[in-house]
Amino acid sequence: MKAPTRQLDVDLAIEFAGIRSPNPFWLASAPPTDKAYNVERAFAAGWGGVVWKTLGEDPPAVNVSSRYSAHFGHNRDVLGFNNIELITDRPLETNLREISEVKQRWPDRALIVSLMVPCVEESWRAILPRVEATGADGIELNLGCPHGMPERGMGAAVGQNPDLIEQVTRWCKTHSRLPVIVKLTPNITDIRAASRAAKLGGADAVSLINTVNSITSVDLDRMIARPIVGHQSTHGGYCGAAVKPIALNMVAEIARDPQSAGLPICGIGGISSWQDAAEFVALGAGAVQVCTAAMLHGFRIVEELQDGLARWMVSKGYRRLADVTGRAVDNTTDWKHLDMNFQTIAHIDQQQCIQCGRCYIACEDTSHQSIAKLAEEDGTRRYEIIEAACVGCNLCQITCPVEGCISMVPQSTGKPFMSWDEDPRNPFRELA
Ligand SMILES: Cc1cc2nc3c(=O)[nH]c(=O)nc-3n(C[C@H](O)[C@H](O)[C@H](O)COP(=O)(O)O)c2cc1C
Ligand code: SF4
Ligand code: SF4
Repeated sequence: MKAPTRQLDVDLAIEFAGIRSPNPFWLASAPPTDKAYNVERAFAAGWGGVVWKTLGEDPPAVNVSSRYSAHFGHNRDVLGFNNIELITDRPLETNLREISEVKQRWPDRALIVSLMVPCVEESWRAILPRVEATGADGIELNLGCPHGMPERGMGAAVGQNPDLIEQVTRWCKTHSRLPVIVKLTPNITDIRAASRAAKLGGADAVSLINTVNSITSVDLDRMIARPIVGHQSTHGGYCGAAVKPIALNMVAEIARDPQSAGLPICGIGGISSWQDAAEFVALGAGAVQVCTAAMLHGFRIVEELQDGLARWMVSKGYRRLADVTGRAVDNTTDWKHLDMNFQTIAHIDQQQCIQCGRCYIACEDTSHQSIAKLAEEDGTRRYEIIEAACVGCNLCQITCPVEGCISMVPQSTGKPFMSWDEDPRNPFRELA
């Protein structure tokens, strides 16, 4: 761990599902963790742990070329990242030897081994002792790979079937003493079905999300989706900043689920800043994993992740990550429990406004026609909120290019809290 966090009198060390780590930042199972060379450089940079790139039975998987594509923003910033890569393409023995060597050289770091073998007990029984012999701290079950492996009855083909999740988890708990983290696929209707199955099977924790089924773009000259392999393409797995909202919701869904209560959660999906990480922790995660941000910006981002998180914790008076874990869960509820009497309306700070008119167009064309466009004597325009019409939808604030120019101001209505179940406008109120 870097010196600054110690000076700040915050302890970022965690124990997650019985696995100790000097900080909560782990690299997710992917190319950054596929060999000793990468993992040792990651540890030297300050990562608290890694989940080694998924191992499988020999012969090793064979990959295609090319493998990645991206969903770009207007300034070529990568909003989302897509891959059609399989699990490790190196021999099992090579990986196991390197895992063993790395663990010996870095005993204080968390080293978890990701696994994916055929969905038969014999395959799991055979590989688990070999992984345990490396000295690794735990295993993560890759039940989520959305491409290539499901066609062979593995990855998401297992993760989309709660009975199989429970079965595979139980085999791992039966044939290994290592903590078992079950990595979940987001390509499922109700993520709670998967976490409940993992818990029933005896899982020590769940991690999520793996990648989301995706096609990022199409080459319209060649009429081939990307990434292009010869003259064809296939769907891949989506990750990076764009999937963070999906992942955050799924983490919260599990954290709120009474049937998954007590199951530690490792948050994954679009984490690229300490704020992202803190948000996952607030919604129930006890550790986080990062892949795309490290692939795009390198291992050194962990310095900023640790430093930013530690400074924020000091500013809020948190000493340990466990003090933050789940803090926002109780404030996350079903729609029907929200306060129907709460009212907020938009306010424009005229000093900051550059009169671009974006808020006006958005509200006029698609919301509640609650912004007036007024002509000033000097020929300029002035935009003003029509407070009586504003429903407080946030659209103008979201479209405004000047941060802080439009604020949403809670109103004192004088009315008490009233949920939809209590609301006289609810035709099913009696039933509720
Ligand atoms: C190129 C690439 C390869 C990946 N390979 C694996 C893998 O072998 N096993 C696995 O469990 N997840 C794999 N993943 C998924 C990541 O571990 C992670 O769950 C996902 O990328 C979401 O995190 P992120 O948004 O930080 O990238 C891979 C992701 C990428 C981009
Ligand atoms: S909050 Fe919504 S309704 Fe109110 S002014 Fe803005 S866009 Fe219009
Ligand atoms: S979008 Fe923002 S800056 Fe532009 S007119 Fe509206 S308040 Fe002013």
